Amino acid sequence: MSEQRIFVVLLGVPGAGKGTQAKLLEQSTGLPQISTGDIFRYNLKNQTELGKLAKSYMDRGDLVPDNVTIRMVEDRLQQPDCERGAIMDGFPRNLMQATAFDKMTAPYGGVHVTPLIQVEDDETIRRITGRRSCRTCGAVYHVLYNPSKRVGVCNVDGGELYQRDDDQEATVRNRLFVYYKQTAPLIGYYYAKGILREVDGTQSIEGVQQALRAVVAI
Ligand code: AP5
Repeated sequence: MSEQRIFVVLLGVPGAGKGTQAKLLEQSTGLPQISTGDIFRYNLKNQTELGKLAKSYMDRGDLVPDNVTIRMVEDRLQQPDCERGAIMDGFPRNLMQATAFDKMTAPYGGVHVTPLIQVEDDETIRRITGRRSCRTCGAVYHVLYNPSKRVGVCNVDGGELYQRDDDQEATVRNRLFVYYKQTAPLIGYYYAKGILREVDGTQSIEGVQQALRAVVAI
């Protein structure tokens, strides 16, 4: 077997706080955040072939096809910053992706832990509709719960804050539907492997981070 790496898979409904927490875990553990949603949005912004393909799926709140997404993650894991592992944010998202990820990570000891960030649907809709993201660095804010110091301006790099196209309420409802149909079965999948850990996502951002650090324990 090759050397051990640490792969953390964050689970939770859209808006549970996976991206917010992955960025904080990246700082505290030194493991890179891999957000498939961010990679698709980067490609969309730069109008690459991948971005054009992903757009129609993302606009509806549907999943981008597995073959495309799995190959994209395989490529990303070859980058040198993944030599100790990664914090997975938004991947895997269905059973096909989970079994593919098991194969990718098997040489390095498999998935270390899958924290499930739990939040009620009403709260996730409040969180998503108030979310603002930085166009340049991707930092995430909320107009009420986590506002930037200056309205519309990122604290990190001064970039413009915008609302994601797929954060309209109708699209959010379809994203929740897709989550329960396709992603929720991963809860049982990882529970059966003994690596699922539930975290109360209704606490403050700092409170959730503390709980996550305790379950990630590296
Ligand atoms: P993706 O970008 O992954 O979206 P998502 O899973 O729907 O998750 P979100 O980014 O909406 O929410 P989050 O849990 O990260 O919450 P956040 O931290 O921002 O995917 C988008 C699309 O890309 C998909 O629909 C699909 O089309 C495609 N895609 C992506 N991955 C794919 C895959 N593997 N396969 C196929 N297709 C894929 O927080 C939300 C808000 O709440 C923020 O405003 C934040 O400030 C606030 N907040 C966070 N924590 C707290 C807290 N504790 N208290 C109060 N407010 C909080």
